[in-house]
Amino acid sequence: MLTPEQIKNNWDKFLNYIDTHIPFSRGKQLKDFYLKYEERFAMMPASHKSQYHNCFPGGYIDHVNRVIEAALKLDTIWREMGMVDTYTTEELVFSAINHDLGKFGTEEHESYIEQTDQWRRDKLNETYMFNDRLEYMTVPDRGLYLLISNGIIPTKNEMIAIRTHDGLYDESNKAYLMGFTPETKPRTSLLYVLHQADLLAARIEFEREWLPKLLGEKKVEEKPKTNSFSLNKNNSNVKAKAMKKMANPALADIMKNL
Ligand SMILES: [Fe+2]
Repeated sequence: MLTPEQIKNNWDKFLNYIDTHIPFSRGKQLKDFYLKYEERFAMMPASHKSQYHNCFPGGYIDHVNRVIEAALKLDTIWREMGMVDTYTTEELVFSAINHDLGKFGTEEHESYIEQTDQWRRDKLNETYMFNDRLEYMTVPDRGLYLLISNGIIPTKNEMIAIRTHDGLYDESNKAYLMGFTPETKPRTSLLYVLHQADLLAARIEFEREWLPKLLGEKKVEEKPKTNSFSLNKNNSNVKAKAMKKMANPALADIMKNL
């Protein structure tokens, strides 16, 4: 779980990555898009099952920030090791910022909603469930669609990197990643750097949450029994405190109406 202060700090850090690395009108469009759905993004979990990584309010932005930071560090290592310069830092950060954007859902419907099956909440510790009002799309495809439909156009490098960020964990990426002739291999290493950054971040999140429990160093923490998007007793306080600290005064009105 994150504290309201951590959620607020993560959101500020996320916006700062956009300000720092995505210039001109595209940066403004991207920031406007994220600010339009500020509350949803700030409070989203990174996954809908507690066994997966960062399944708690604020987990999504916490994960994305970690991927951005890891991508910038891995980029330095790859360059020091002799990687040919085939992408820009803007493309690297843009890809990292948006790699999991498809988890957001549609502009009308959230992907992850409160688990309504009490048995699954109690026995499987599932706080969230997937919203079946959404038409099936892969996470990368939905993310790219969200960007393009909001007039935020990815470059070819960014599109391939976001599309393949799960590496060979996603079989459909074989066409991009298993080209055995030089002509069919990717012509940029951006996708490898992004995939490694995502892998690193998810692994660290697993280690932080699960290793102490599995090694018996810490009592298993109770997962929150509430959904981050509903104002119920337990997390409304966290949410209200986090939102109160945000710069956008319009959020106060949003909070009242939830
Ligand atoms: Fe990710």
